[in-house]
Amino acid sequence: MNEASMRAVRLTETMGVPAVDPATPLPARIEGETLVRVRAAALNHRDVYIMQGKYPGITLPVTLGSDGAGEADGREVVIDPMLGWGDDDRVWRTGASILGMPRDGTMAGYVAVPNENVHAKPAHLSLDEAAALPLAGLTAYRALFTRGGLSSGETVLITGVGGGVQTFVLLFAKAAGARTIVTSGSDEKLTRATALGADVAINYRTDEAWYKAVRKAGPIDLAVDSAGGATLARCIDAVRPGGRVVLYGGSNGDATVRPFSIFWNHLDVLGTSMGSPRDFAAMLAFVERERIRPAIDRVYPMDRVAEAMRRMDEAHQFGKIVIRVD
Ligand SMILES: NC(=O)c1ccc[n+]([C@@H]2O[C@H](COP(=O)([O-])OP(=O)(O)OC[C@H]3O[C@@H](n4cnc5c(N)ncnc54)[C@H](OP(=O)(O)O)[C@@H]3O)[C@@H](O)[C@H]2O)c1
Repeated sequence: MNEASMRAVRLTETMGVPAVDPATPLPARIEGETLVRVRAAALNHRDVYIMQGKYPGITLPVTLGSDGAGEADGREVVIDPMLGWGDDDRVWRTGASILGMPRDGTMAGYVAVPNENVHAKPAHLSLDEAAALPLAGLTAYRALFTRGGLSSGETVLITGVGGGVQTFVLLFAKAAGARTIVTSGSDEKLTRATALGADVAINYRTDEAWYKAVRKAGPIDLAVDSAGGATLARCIDAVRPGGRVVLYGGSNGDATVRPFSIFWNHLDVLGTSMGSPRDFAAMLAFVERERIRPAIDRVYPMDRVAEAMRRMDEAHQFGKIVIRVD
């Protein structure tokens, strides 16, 4: 990296493979923005969807990456990837966007972000751990608390606990004093979730009647889901009367839900995405106070980003995949 250029993970075509461009120009310096020297980034499923052409409004070429931690103005920082949320805490404004497409992201020597998106790194976290936090931690925090209204002593269902966001939902729910029922398609991941405090662990792949086991382990006050499809329909059937279902993704496509389960049981079915600046600050404070450490699956050097993306696409990871920026 010389003074005018840097190494960056660039995606130049849809269905292409992201690769390091060692001569990427540095971001322009703009009034009101901070240039962060990135030390670590992390993957989100969004990056895989962008690579596969499955994300709305793709503009290429782009430097990938929504998650990042590094240095700016002499301190260690973490970046809020939500850009231009707006003034209404309930919903983002039209035109809000996420760092890492269309705007160049964090898998680079430097990233430029609005000053207000730069926060002090929680002191108990390494830079790798801090890089694992932003997008998934923010989404999990808002899903569980701002939207889900979780209280201590309640029971939460967490479907597909191996996912980056869902591991945070588990960690946050436990720290908040909740009882947790988790599902996964992998026994190994269920063992890891149990080690993180999951109270009941059920394999949705080997146990066809997993939703019956889930219901039996209830009553469930709150379900948090991003699988969508039949899993979402099962969540709606599984929560107790008066319960809540929060969803932030639909990885397995559309769902056919039973209206009866929703209206007869007075359910709240709530959508959420990312989080407001207030959610991000609250999430950081919660992580610091509870001394929460993200579940990190693996750390890859930038040159092996394509391998890391494949690992995520094949759902082998438990928690977050970190990309060390070198
Ligand atoms: N709206 C937002 O702001 C927002 C934010 C973040 C993520 N998302 C979306 O949420 C989804 C997950 O994102 P991520 O980054 O956490 O992805 P990820 O780390 O790749 O996690 C995906 C996980 O989904 C689980 N899964 C797949 N099929 C399932 C099924 N039939 N039942 C239950 N779980 C299933 C798997 O868990 P197991 O391996 O344990 O089975 C898998 O590990 C993606 O669709 C993403 O686009 C949305």
